[in-house]
Order: sequence, then C-alpha cells, then structure tokens
Amino acid sequence: MTEEAGMNANQLTQQLLHRVNASWIAQAVYAAVELGLPERLAHGPRAVADLAGECHVPVYTLERLLRALITVDVFVQNPDGTFALTETGRRLCADHPESIRSWVIWWTSNLAYAWAELLYSIRTGKSARTLVHGVEGFEHLDQNPEQAAVFNQALLELTRLTAVSIAGHYDFSSFRCVMDVGGGYGELLRVILQNNPRTRGILFDRAHALGGALERFQQEGLAERCEFLEGNFFEEVPPGADAMVLKSIIHDWPDEKAALILANCRKAMPAAGKLLVIGRIMPARLESTDEHRDMVRSDLTMLVALGAGERSEDQYRVLLENAGFDVGRTVSVGMGHSMIEASPRP
Ligand SMILES: C[S@@+](CC[C@H](N)C(=O)[O-])C[C@H]1O[C@@H](n2cnc3c(N)ncnc32)[C@H](O)[C@@H]1O
Repeated sequence: MTEEAGMNANQLTQQLLHRVNASWIAQAVYAAVELGLPERLAHGPRAVADLAGECHVPVYTLERLLRALITVDVFVQNPDGTFALTETGRRLCADHPESIRSWVIWWTSNLAYAWAELLYSIRTGKSARTLVHGVEGFEHLDQNPEQAAVFNQALLELTRLTAVSIAGHYDFSSFRCVMDVGGGYGELLRVILQNNPRTRGILFDRAHALGGALERFQQEGLAERCEFLEGNFFEEVPPGADAMVLKSIIHDWPDEKAALILANCRKAMPAAGKLLVIGRIMPARLESTDEHRDMVRSDLTMLVALGAGERSEDQYRVLLENAGFDVGRTVSVGMGHSMIEASPRP
C-alpha cells in the first residue's frame, strides 16, 4: 500500500518535504522540556514574559518556541495572549501517567547524534554511537549515572504503554517466580507482580538500573516480593525463575550475542519453564503506514545505536530453536509489539 494514490505532483513533493523536515519537532519539544515549560504551565496559563524571566531566556525567542509548538498541539495561546498546556503537552510533564518526557530527552540528546551518522552504519553494519561516543553496547550507562537515569526512565515510559496489555494477554498466575531479564526499572515485572499476588519476581540487570528499580518497587510495596540481581547475561542468567520475560532485549544484539543470551536463559530454566520474548516482529512486506514507520525507525535505531536490528518471526524462531527452545504461539500485545512463547526442548 502507498499513500501516493490520488496525490498530484506538487502534493507528493510537499509530503516528502514535510517528512524530511519533521526533525525540527523533536528539537523544539526537547527545548521546551529542557526549559521546563510543560511543568511551568501545568497549573494554568501564563504570560510569556513571566516564563522568560523564570527560564532566563529572551521573551522574543521563547515566544517563537511556544508559538511553534502550538502547531503540533503541545501548547495553545489564549485570546489574552497567555500560553496554556494541552492534553498532549501534559504528556511532557514527568508526573503524567503516560509521560514521554525522558524519551524526548533520550531521543534528542543521545540517539539523534547516532542517527546523524546513519550512513556510516549503512556502509559498515556497525553502531554509529560507537563511532561518535567510542562506547559499545550499554557500557556508557555503567559509566554515566545521569544518562543511565534518563535511559532507564525513557524505557520505563515506553514499556508502560504495553505492560498492562502484556500482563493481560498471558496468564502469569501459575508461575512461582517471573524473571525480567534485562528488565531496566522493571516496569513490566511491576505490573505482572501487581496482577499476580502469589507470584514472586527477579529483576536481573546491570547495576545502573537496579537502584532506581528498587526505589520504585519499594514505593509500590512490591520490593518484598522481588529480588534485584546484578549480572551480565552474556556470562550467566541466574537460576530461580520458572518464567523469564525478555522485553526489548534480543533486538539490541547481533545474532551471535542474542544466541548467547538465549542459551544462558535456557541453562537457567527448569524443564517446565517458559520464555517470553517481547518486541517488534519485522513483517515480510512493508507499507507506508505509521505502524510500519515506527517499526523501521526502531530497526534503524538499533542499527545506529547498537549495530543490531529487528527480526522477522522466522529469524526469532531459528534463534530460539538453536538455543534449545520449542517455539509456541505468538500474540500481538499492542503498540506494534508481539510476544513469542517458547519452552525448553526436553
Ligand atoms: C532496551 S533496554 C530494555 C529494558 C526493559 N526490558 C524494557 O523493555 O523496558 C535493555 C536492557 O538490557 C540491559 N542489559 C544490557 N546489557 C546487559 C547485560 N550484559 N546483562 C544484563 N542486562 C543487560 C540494559 O541495562 C537495559 O536495561
């Protein structure tokens, strides 16, 4: 399917121009977030002069930023000239239940620099982030607690959009213990434990994620039902769980490393255990739709950030079977994500 049908030559050019120029939106939203404009407007409309004073920026540039973001529904301007936050704009406040504030910061202050070197990744298949920042994989997070906090919160924000649906699509109640492998701040595990009061949890990740995760689980009264284990899934996945969830993990790694993670999960899993791989599944044919644009954006983001990418269902099947799993059903869990169930082959 193409969106070209029915468009004249000029409309085709305009559509392409809109798409190519769209990155201004990310930069403008990021500037607003860094200046704290959503929070400053959270309790009601304000005059630009007031905001400019608080943000220590000139009125004439701030007004242009506020007006620009009217065009993408972040702010509105009232007849008296004051600016107000929209329902969309509220999602840029840290405390909104569907906030994407940290994702905006992560995308613009980190991933965008890797995207600027996409051509290098296309030519070499290697991570452009490694080229730009000299770091591989997730090492930069171990070295930089501030970046780690933004990254972990950004992933929590994305996972929050599917966690309830994942927990609703699968019966976790029969499991004694669920491990979130590379679980970050553990948003998925948090929802699974909340929905299944008799199930215990293990959150397994690098040190950079565990402190923040523990704090969140304590706030929710769930810390008693969960262990927080630091480790390296290329060396060992700890035993103790009869179900393992891997959300947005396998797409971070090229085949050889992905195979090692799965093999280590297999070693740690009891005979009756289940492995649930959650992520996007690359379709055979792509179309000009928002969902498919999201899919390929994620695929190329994995390329520039990590030298990795999204996989087809067949590619997942081969990886899982080679690691000693029988592959069961695949279910769609919303937001373009699917869950593949696998059982250890006897
Ligand atoms: C893309 S994030 C996914 C986080 C979480 N599963 C989610 O979907 O919200 C990848 C996670 O893998 C973790 N990770 C990376 N390398 C790891 C390793 N060698 N051992 C354990 N965890 C690792 C990262 O710290 C990060 O939390």
